[in-house]
Amino acid sequence: MTILMVCLGNICRSPLAEGILKEKCKKAGLNWKIESAGTNGFHNGEAPHYLSQKIARINNIDISNQQSRKFVKQDFDRFDKIYAMAEDVIDEIKQIGKDRYISTKVNLLMDEVYPNQNKEVPDPYYGAEDGYHSVYKMIEIACDAIIKNYANLST
Ligand code: 4NP
Repeated sequence: MTILMVCLGNICRSPLAEGILKEKCKKAGLNWKIESAGTNGFHNGEAPHYLSQKIARINNIDISNQQSRKFVKQDFDRFDKIYAMAEDVIDEIKQIGKDRYISTKVNLLMDEVYPNQNKEVPDPYYGAEDGYHSVYKMIEIACDAIIKNYANLST
C-alpha cells in the first residue's frame, strides 16, 4: 500500500498525517510507503510548522525531519491512495494532475471515518495552538480507520 497525504502548504496538516500514519504502520508491522505533499509549493524545502512539530512531539512522534514538497502529477503513478485534507485541496490536485488525474485514487481523508459527509480537516495555519490539537485528533481517528480498512487487503 502506498499513500500520499496532501494539504495546501505541506507544513501543517499533511506532515502530521504522514507522521501519524507512519507511526501506526510501524506499530502494526505494516510495510506501507507513506509520504506527504502540498499543492501550493509556497514552503518547498521547509520543515513542518513548529506547532505541528510540537503537537506531534507531545504524542511521541518526531516529524522534524520532513521537508515540504509540491504535489506533482507523477504522484498519481507512485501512490495507490491520495488523501486530501479538504475540498480545495482536491480541486488543486485535479488542476495539477491534468490527464493523470484518477478520481478513484483521491478522497478526503475524513471520508475513511465519515463517508460521503464532505468532512474536512480545517487549516490551522492562521489560527492558534488549539487548532493544531483538534487537527491532530481528527487525523489520528482517520489513520486508525485507514489501517482498519486496508491492513487486511494489502501489506
Ligand atoms: P497546510 O496549511 O495546508 O495545513 O500546510 C497551510 C500552510 C501554509 C499556507 C496555506 C496552508 N500558505 O498559503 O502559506
